[in-house]
Amino acid sequence: MDEPLDKLRSEGDLNLSPHREIWAKEQVDPETRRLLAEDERYFLRQSLSTPCLDVLTSCEGVFIETHQGRRLMDFHGNNVHQVGFGNSRVIEAVTRQMNALSFCPRRYTNVPAIQLAKKLALLAPGDLNKVLFAPGGTSAIGMALKLARAVTGRHKTISMWDSFHGASLDAISIGGEAIFRQNSGPLLPGTEHVAPPDPNHCPLGCGGACNLRCAEYVDYVLGKEGDVAAVIAETVRSTPYIPRREYWEIVRAACDRHGTLLILDEVPHCLGRTGKMFTCEHYGVVPDILVIGKGLGGGIFPLAALIAREGLDVAPEKALGHYTHEKNPVACAAALAAIEYIEEENLLEHAASLGAHALERMRKMMEDHPRIGDVRGLGLLMGIEVVRDRATMERDHDAAEYVMYAALRRGLNFKLTMGNIITLTPPLTISRDEMDRALAILAECFKEMERQTR
Ligand SMILES: Cc1ncc(COP(=O)(O)O)c(C=O)c1O
Repeated sequence: MDEPLDKLRSEGDLNLSPHREIWAKEQVDPETRRLLAEDERYFLRQSLSTPCLDVLTSCEGVFIETHQGRRLMDFHGNNVHQVGFGNSRVIEAVTRQMNALSFCPRRYTNVPAIQLAKKLALLAPGDLNKVLFAPGGTSAIGMALKLARAVTGRHKTISMWDSFHGASLDAISIGGEAIFRQNSGPLLPGTEHVAPPDPNHCPLGCGGACNLRCAEYVDYVLGKEGDVAAVIAETVRSTPYIPRREYWEIVRAACDRHGTLLILDEVPHCLGRTGKMFTCEHYGVVPDILVIGKGLGGGIFPLAALIAREGLDVAPEKALGHYTHEKNPVACAAALAAIEYIEEENLLEHAASLGAHALERMRKMMEDHPRIGDVRGLGLLMGIEVVRDRATMERDHDAAEYVMYAALRRGLNFKLTMGNIITLTPPLTISRDEMDRALAILAECFKEMERQTR
């Protein structure tokens, strides 16, 4: 039993760590303990989700508040809170829509759904003009895979090790995280994987500065296979891996050469997290299918979308996304309000400039803290990699967890990815003061960790 648990921990399942146990013992409020016990009593346990850390009662802007009245800045938010939690414009739009048309059965349409599809087609680059909605990112990924099969008549895919595209069986087949794939039984056939553009841990040995061999290898595999339907990848991985500009140019050209579609998954970062409405705009590359989600629902509703090139509208006889909530008017009203808010409040510029400021401060932190192996960021998608030693870049899961729980105690919530990367994704509405406060907390936590683990 221990070996799989160790594996899960190294893949980032913090709920199995000793730090988690200390945290649980510190939760002494009787009502909180009772509610957490009830949660355990009635929910099936599952990795990465249970047991829960605390009980929430409200959320607003960058803050979540617990039953005991503790306020935490939420730099995780599952990437849904681009416009901040409880955004009043979104709540008003949702309330108005609920009172008018709260649901739309299949084969009918409605004004918010049409307006949202039109808006996304206008915003998305190139000829990405045809939209389908889904009740979550995983389902939208599933639709993209089906559309790629319908368009190309092929079924194989190339995706990246370490990637995440959702937790359903088709999504974990293309995903690259062991915690989701191992012991899952047979996965989809034809789902090949290649190394992601992660120079710090590159199996092709680029040694810290990407030499684009990983992009050329995608071209090589496409040529060898000859019949791949789609390359599917996150434009920028949440860790974050931020590929060089040429990376996507090379992969796009390779896809074109081999008759393969390029599907970019921007479920967590669409609508401005990286300082552009869509992350692919940083690269000047237009995919054949763009998948978005999470923040699209305004931080309130589950909503995702596939935006495909005009020419891919070739499967009217197939059910690509036969979802009950495929044109939910309330979800679409939330999305329209969220997009309007992002545009009117200039949140793209804010994310780009505040992200640059934060990255600068994180670079300074790196000078003081040897356990920080790397800092990376694009807009308000930021990461701090915690390592045992900068020379080897060996991941330090224990130190990262120490910092995470120390930050929770000081009022800052964030997620670790790959077990050792502090991933920081605050709302785009966050002020500079709030950002500086969060980074000051992090610096204190690194100091404490370095004292304790010397
Ligand atoms: C890159 C990426 N794709 C897809 C998904 C799945 O989205 P959902 O949880 O809405 O199904 C996620 C969720 O974290 C994600 O990060």
